[in-house]
Amino acid sequence: MIPANIIEDLKFRNSIEDVISSYVNLNRSGSNLKGLCPFHSERTPSFTVYPGDGHFYCFGCGAGGDVISFIMRIENLEYVPALEFLAKRAGITLPEDDRQKKDGVTRSRVLEMNLEAARYFRSVLFSPEGASGRAYFEKRQLSGATIKHFGLGYAPDSFDSLKKHLRQKGYTDEEMVAGYLCQRSRKNEKNIYDCFRNRVMFPIIDTAGNVVAFGGRVLDDSVPKYLNSADTPAFKKSRNLFALNFARNHTEDGFILCEGYMDVIALHAAGFENAVATLGTAITPEQARIMKKYTDKVTISYDSDEAGQKAADKALRLLAEVDIDAKVLSIPGAKDPDEYIKTYGAAKFKEVLSGSKSKFDYKVTKILSKYNTDDPNEKARAAREICYGIADIYSNVERDIYIRNVADKLELDPKSIAAEVNGIIKRRNAEKKKTMHSDIVREISGIGNRADPDYAKNVRSSVIERTIIGLLLIRPEYIKLLSGDAPITEEDFSSSLTRRLFKAITEYDKNGGFDFGMLHESFTQEEVSEAEKMAEARRRVRSNGEDVFMEAEKRLREEAEKRRIKESRRGDLQSLIDSKRKKD
Ligand code: CTP
Ligand code: MN
Repeated sequence: MIPANIIEDLKFRNSIEDVISSYVNLNRSGSNLKGLCPFHSERTPSFTVYPGDGHFYCFGCGAGGDVISFIMRIENLEYVPALEFLAKRAGITLPEDDRQKKDGVTRSRVLEMNLEAARYFRSVLFSPEGASGRAYFEKRQLSGATIKHFGLGYAPDSFDSLKKHLRQKGYTDEEMVAGYLCQRSRKNEKNIYDCFRNRVMFPIIDTAGNVVAFGGRVLDDSVPKYLNSADTPAFKKSRNLFALNFARNHTEDGFILCEGYMDVIALHAAGFENAVATLGTAITPEQARIMKKYTDKVTISYDSDEAGQKAADKALRLLAEVDIDAKVLSIPGAKDPDEYIKTYGAAKFKEVLSGSKSKFDYKVTKILSKYNTDDPNEKARAAREICYGIADIYSNVERDIYIRNVADKLELDPKSIAAEVNGIIKRRNAEKKKTMHSDIVREISGIGNRADPDYAKNVRSSVIERTIIGLLLIRPEYIKLLSGDAPITEEDFSSSLTRRLFKAITEYDKNGGFDFGMLHESFTQEEVSEAEKMAEARRRVRSNGEDVFMEAEKRLREEAEKRRIKESRRGDLQSLIDSKRKKD
């Protein structure tokens, strides 16, 4: 457990305003800041940052929390890596987290050791010993700049050179084994030897810039062609993508998803810096979700053999599940994207990329096939149906392109198509405005909420419970008000979410202090957002004095008492029925 004072310090050094500003354009609005929410697409800002108490909340999608929640969401990091990210940003180091240890080896030691190993592999590559590695990269037409950009290296043909190097740097055998850089000898458990030998090395770097793992390729046709780090305290294969550290900053055209390291490297070198690859396994649901954080568009560019196409089908399905608009690229005349670029050049690859049919083109073709466009009536209906599709498109420029395109196809005036589309958008916006207010009320009160599913079961009590949690979150000092003669306990809560929140807040408080960020240890992001929603509801009413808290506590006690009486009556009735049954 990371103690509250460390988290507080981390937050002090990473002001929410500062951190969020580097991702979102924020404008001042009263004492708060507003911007376009980075977690869902919107045209008018509903993403609000409260610099005063270090929180954010989006009225559009309900995402909310503190600076840690923000980093977890936007960088797609787990709790502890998010803390590390913020620590790094502030130039401080975190104390070790014991739970991440495996055989006594911690994540941060493995990360440090990996960085040292990556440096070592690179220095060997550029030393006389690395001649065969350099020759291999040359054969594959990688420039020096590309090699440096990806931090590529060479593991010498030796069983102990990395081991010796790391020992000299102070790493233990246990650390090298846990980090999958060395293995224990089968003959003598005490001996360890280097895993990667005579291989060119591809470091895998996460979005926080850590070297989390390695892939190593043989220089010839021997097998296995690639050797990859197994899961370690610092790495989970199913949750990482090769080159995501670069590609996430180039998602204007979505990602290009490849099978191989070499494909990705060739694509980046040719200017397609949005290419990523899975790590020697088929794409996982986690990887699909990670991609969705950055873009809604993925072009699958797998090998053209049967296995590749089968894998592409699977990827299509997985990406569709997270609502990514995926296309499959076909590259005739080459076995993989790497070979395609080498044979036909980058310009040709770009053509193939843009030529693949978009979902919208596909839709238009489908609509047109339903109608006989020689008949003016049917043509008008087809046009109207297409206009609804165009109105869904977010970008003005893109909408404009489609309007012209469709006008051309149907031989209609683009102005009248544009007018139709604008009419649809206007009507929709008017609808939205009408429902917006009641949406906000519903959102904040928690009605029909997945994260607080017990809400509807006991609305009266839930409203009070949410008030208490909201107050404890924005005024943590109220915890001390609970120490009266008969303080409420978790038992008094009817909703399981508020009960768990209450328990977490009070227990953390007892054991060294509570900070909102600590909720991430045992609550999902959705639940943390829900907690933020409770805090937000209190900020909006603005009457949050101690008296309000005491009153809520009193009313919760009454509600709980009522519930208990009801339950015991139900129990009495049941035993009455039971005893009567026995007699009959
Ligand atoms: N792979 C692996 N183990 C193997 C073969 C492949 O882990 N024995 C993984 C690697 O991540 C590799 C990817 O599957 O990058 C795709 O395999 P392949 O197309 O054979 O590799 P390329 O990256 O295209 O490598 P090359 O062009 O050097 O053959
Ligand atoms: Mn290849």
